[in-house]
Amino acid sequence: MSIHLKRVESLIKKNLMEIITYKLKDPNVGFVAINDVKVSSDLSYAKVFCSFLGSKNYNEAGIKALNNAKGYLRSELSKTLDTRKTPELSFIIDDSLDQGRKIEGILKRVIKEDKMINLNLDNIIQDVDFEAYADKVKEIDLMINEGTGAGGEFCGWTSWPFEYDKEEVERIKKTAARLREISDVIVIMGIGGSYLGAKSAIDMIKGHLSEDKPEIMFAGISFSGREYRHQLQYLEGKDVSLICISKSGSTTETSACFRLFRQYVEKRYGKQESIRRIAIVTDKQKGLLKPLCDEWGYDRFVIPDEIGGRFSVITPVGLLPMACAGIDIDEFIRGIQDSAKKYDNSDIMSNDAYKYAVVRNEMMKSGRTNEVYVTYEPDMDSFGEWLKQLFGESEGKDGKGIFPATIVCTRDLHSLGQFIQQGNNQILFETVLNIENPVEDMEFPYDQDNDDNMNYLSGRSLNWINKQAFMGTLKAHVEDGKVPNVVISLKDDTCYSCAYAMYFFFKALAMSAYMLGVNPFDQPGVEIYKNNMYELLGKPKK
Ligand code: PA5
Repeated sequence: MSIHLKRVESLIKKNLMEIITYKLKDPNVGFVAINDVKVSSDLSYAKVFCSFLGSKNYNEAGIKALNNAKGYLRSELSKTLDTRKTPELSFIIDDSLDQGRKIEGILKRVIKEDKMINLNLDNIIQDVDFEAYADKVKEIDLMINEGTGAGGEFCGWTSWPFEYDKEEVERIKKTAARLREISDVIVIMGIGGSYLGAKSAIDMIKGHLSEDKPEIMFAGISFSGREYRHQLQYLEGKDVSLICISKSGSTTETSACFRLFRQYVEKRYGKQESIRRIAIVTDKQKGLLKPLCDEWGYDRFVIPDEIGGRFSVITPVGLLPMACAGIDIDEFIRGIQDSAKKYDNSDIMSNDAYKYAVVRNEMMKSGRTNEVYVTYEPDMDSFGEWLKQLFGESEGKDGKGIFPATIVCTRDLHSLGQFIQQGNNQILFETVLNIENPVEDMEFPYDQDNDDNMNYLSGRSLNWINKQAFMGTLKAHVEDGKVPNVVISLKDDTCYSCAYAMYFFFKALAMSAYMLGVNPFDQPGVEIYKNNMYELLGKPKK
């Protein structure tokens, strides 16, 4: 048999399996495995040999469902092949494998498909003895759960998923519905942990170019005069509402931003009408925002004492902006809860969040003190920023920590990619955030003239092309660059997945920071910059 034909058979096997799993969605198919594909030499026919999990009845129902859908499957398959024609498909029950092997193979895949997050360590180049960490991991896991480590009073995020204030979540939905109704633009003001989680979730779930209304604008992350002028100008002629988020209620960037935008809104709508256009998320007692709410009657939501900024995306800090963006926050909470259950496990051999923490630790020990988070989805850019904060601000203290950076590919393969692959890269490792099945996709078109020589990609999906770029880069960075690559695959880019991934990283970070011997929940350096700035600004001392 020609190499070409073999390649076609294996492509059909792989691509058909993906189409059946992710597109066909016919419950009658059940849990199917494609064991073999045989294609005629002229590419006219393909026999697809399948087996099913379950009794004989499942085989019959499954094979019937597949043969009923063969027209659709063929047409979907044609989009993924580069052959001149797509063979007609015929699905046949495969009796060649013994039942035991069949079931084992199918089960393996079912388990994998059920996984929301898959940690792939095939490309980390070095061996890691995870068992050697078993006791340490158990000890730290207990510290995290019982809040007995440094900063343990901020471990409230571990119990919050099951103990959150349901009534407050209902109030969030109501406020969001009102703001959505009266606004073209909702401005979210906050910095650090008081904005990054919400921004990354909204970008990942909806896309940073989403044209959905109302528009969500983030403000208060600089003192740039130009930025503020442009943002305020942009609001002209649009209906505006404001959400101010600050746990301390005294962060200068957020306070300055709130003054500028509040004055703007009050000028446009008057003080009374502005009250319905303003909502505040802050500490239940501390800071200046709470008394402001008491005085003016703004809707107010609480950031729990025991949850710090970087972990606050699961509280009103993240939920209110997400609800304003039209995201189903119940689904988000479900994702957090399921992930919290999944990673509440002190066994290093079966907890991938902890495995990832151990791998980071090993990387650092071997001199790889810089971690580059890699994404091939521009809408995951903010997620990378959120990770940079989560890991960077939590671990970077006492002269310790892994320096986190991000690249967005393929854009940055035309800039930093060269350095990563062939520069002073002994200090680097990469962590790729791979989205297994992005919700949206489009097909690369055919062009009659082909004067750009791009027809070789016609009919391919853009996401498929993106995947090849990822795989090509992975190979180059690992084989040529000798840069270890951790691959963390998220099942998709839905709200549920986003929440699931965020909690995974909370758990990984807490384990990683305690392993390093630092308090993950403080940021003493930030206070020093603030005090220096206050002095230069002439801020009156209390
Ligand atoms: O993670 C953190 O704690 C910080 O990044 C804070 O979120 C950030 O400094 C903003 O603080 P605040 O919410 O008090 O305005």
